[in-house]
Amino acid sequence: MARVALVTGGSRGIGEAISKALKDVGYDVAATYAGNDEAAAKFTDETGIKTYKWNVADYDQSKAGIEQVEADLGPIDVVVANAGITRDAPFHKMTPEQWNQVIDTNLTGVFNTVHPVWPGMRERKFGRVIVISSINGQKGQFGQVNYAATKAGDLGIIKSLAQEGARAGITANAICPGYIATEMVMAVPEKVRESIIAGIPAGRLGEPEEIARCVVFLAGDDAGFINGSTITANGAQHLV
Ligand code: CAA
Repeated sequence: MARVALVTGGSRGIGEAISKALKDVGYDVAATYAGNDEAAAKFTDETGIKTYKWNVADYDQSKAGIEQVEADLGPIDVVVANAGITRDAPFHKMTPEQWNQVIDTNLTGVFNTVHPVWPGMRERKFGRVIVISSINGQKGQFGQVNYAATKAGDLGIIKSLAQEGARAGITANAICPGYIATEMVMAVPEKVRESIIAGIPAGRLGEPEEIARCVVFLAGDDAGFINGSTITANGAQHLV
């Protein structure tokens, strides 16, 4: 039987490429989205991948949504916590609302996504937890105190989960994408974006598919000894 994968924020941006790549190598994939019904419907039409709408910042919605996915597709073997938002502002201008929105979605959202699937993974003695962090969790970023805090937090989460899950056949790993050609990066003011690209030795933005292939690698049944690690994929912009 095909393994089942859940990808949050899986109908757009990096998540879309992840959902498609997992499907291409044989997973039954469920993709979640928060609000853009039109993009989700188009995605399902084009790919045949079922989408589910819930807010990852809400524990009860996440738990109920995951129960529905498992009722439809079977137990979740691979969970990709990808959903994320930005609310960029220099710290002196950042509002508590901008702080809380990013923490609730990007960080608590990882808890809300992984916690409901964790007991089943422990029982079945198999699981793959993959969290999409960011270069900016590794290096910080002007204007992203909130976002960088969540992305650095992701690395603490996977390193701890890796230790808790290892004996139960569960791995937890992170990917730190650099600047990837998605709507999120295109929303950065053009001048700022140009200066960012100028600082990438590869001389270009990354492609979502380049992150998706890291996910496929970590999700594999034969990736069981890769646990608690971080794949850095940023065109050599920041070396760790
Ligand atoms: N380093 C140092 N100074 C900087 C700077 C930087 N990186 N960026 C801006 N500044 C300076 C400006 O030169 C300007 O200085 P002056 O006042 O002396 O002219 C000042 O900071 C800008 O201040 P403003 O009050 O005008 O700032 P603002 O309210 O317009 O906000 C910003 C600016 C929203 C933070 C904008 O700089 C920005 O969007 N930066 C990009 C942040 C970024 O990289 N976001 C990533 C989004 S993509 C993503 O998150 C995906 C991923 O994982 C990689």
